[in-house]
Amino acid sequence: MPGPYTAVRARLKAGTSPRIMEMMETPLTVVILAAGLGTRMKSRKAKVLHRAGGKALVEHVVETARALTAPERIFVVVGHQAGEVERMLAGTGVRFIQQQEQKGTGHAVVSGRDALSGLDGYLMVLYGDSPLLRVETLRRLVEMEAAGSAAATLLTARMADPTGYGRVIRDGQRGVRRIVEQKAATREELEIREANMGIYCFRADLFWRHAGEIRPDNPAREYYLTDMAEILNRAGHTVQPLEIDDAGEALGINDRLELAAADRILRDRKLRELMVGGVTIEKPETVTIDADATIGMDTVIEPFAQIRGKTKIGENCRIGSCAILEDAELGDEVEISPFTMVARSRLERRAQAGPFARLRMEAHVCEDAHVGNFVELKKTRLGAGAKAMHLAYLGDSDIGAAVNVGAGTITCNYDGFQKHPTVIGDGAFVGSNSTLVAPLEIGPGAYVAAGSVITQPVPADALGLGRAHQVIKEEWAKKRRALKRGSGAAGRVPGAAR
Ligand code: UD1
Ligand code: CA
Repeated sequence: MPGPYTAVRARLKAGTSPRIMEMMETPLTVVILAAGLGTRMKSRKAKVLHRAGGKALVEHVVETARALTAPERIFVVVGHQAGEVERMLAGTGVRFIQQQEQKGTGHAVVSGRDALSGLDGYLMVLYGDSPLLRVETLRRLVEMEAAGSAAATLLTARMADPTGYGRVIRDGQRGVRRIVEQKAATREELEIREANMGIYCFRADLFWRHAGEIRPDNPAREYYLTDMAEILNRAGHTVQPLEIDDAGEALGINDRLELAAADRILRDRKLRELMVGGVTIEKPETVTIDADATIGMDTVIEPFAQIRGKTKIGENCRIGSCAILEDAELGDEVEISPFTMVARSRLERRAQAGPFARLRMEAHVCEDAHVGNFVELKKTRLGAGAKAMHLAYLGDSDIGAAVNVGAGTITCNYDGFQKHPTVIGDGAFVGSNSTLVAPLEIGPGAYVAAGSVITQPVPADALGLGRAHQVIKEEWAKKRRALKRGSGAAGRVPGAAR
């Protein structure tokens, strides 16, 4: 029947807005249940804090909810490790409801009565342990609820093995009469394959009118949200199912096996999304990429690479085998060779690092600069076109453009108490195996002789030489051999015995 949302649905079909409820005159409130400990995880950490696909379970659900409604209309029910959950979600703008004692999913929603019951429109309830949900499915759920006259619409799926899930008892073909939990089900009811996915859209006014009728009259002595189906039916309303084909999408994570399964699915989705978007991923089954990473077109990811956190990679880059990038930022055409680690660091256009390099704590490699094997950069800027190709530690340093840092160069940035800076001007040349004792300044165009220990500033264009002068003793070796031969050690090359 044509309801008040006909026009909205037409616009939705045209795909004009991501946030469906902002266009509807009746708003949507989303409540995410995240207060449980999750006994089956066997963990000291609250279940929703466990990670899959590079993000905590609850972060995935919040992100999905944010695509549906404004953050101030999203409420997360917290209890176990509430502080940690709130901290994790602090930047999202969602609001929190405290559930002091975990007495069941129905009790969790009702804990928010003060904050929620005044909000009109629709009330969607999601579980914080369902990270695989797709926004499109939730949109369909809201649309279906908004289109008809049912008091609630809930997501169901037929599962090969619905063990652990609530079973859906249908009322004829169109309605749901009630949901029976695994623990409370009869043997006959356990035969039912249609499971409750734990995703509901209620008419808010009807929900709050009847929520008080939930009773803990079940073997677990819990207040089950699922009882609302029967309660609404009893009050003369209808509850309708939205049956989806892929139960995998609503998988609730209860133990570590399901966590691993969700991780696999989320990562697979991410890889597909990237490949469809023009990224080449070699042997994708070996590559790990977190949900929030972004990668530009024509970039090639080699086998066993790990791209974590909020890493941003430009176009036409190459990420070598077994490289690990975490919260890294790479411009276009950057090359990371195998076995290189980059954490919280930035490489500009055409920069190169590795193999076996380590960049950490805000290292910044400018355009066309190269970092080679066994080089570590910490809180260091390496200027445009500068090179540190082999075996170096550069910490707390600002290194100018086109500087050459020789093999084995070490900045002695730490005196046992404090860190000190090293500044090297544009075009300077630091000879191999130099020890640069910070705080230190080497002027532009200066030259440091190989093997120097430099403790004083080297002015621009000067030579800094900090090593013992070489001494030559003509004929010394020959004389020594003759001496040894005289004493009976004939034929032996000096020093060769040991
Ligand atoms: C629930 C449903 C079941 C459905 C399944 C789908 C109920 C009674 N059962 O079972 O029908 O098939 O999900 O995955 O709802 N939570 C709280 N406070 C509490 C209890 C739970 O916030 O007092 C939170 C948990 O942190 C969790 C979510 O609610 O994120 C679901 O709870 P869980 O115990 O996992 O429910 P299931 O037994 O899986
Ligand atoms: Ca669950």
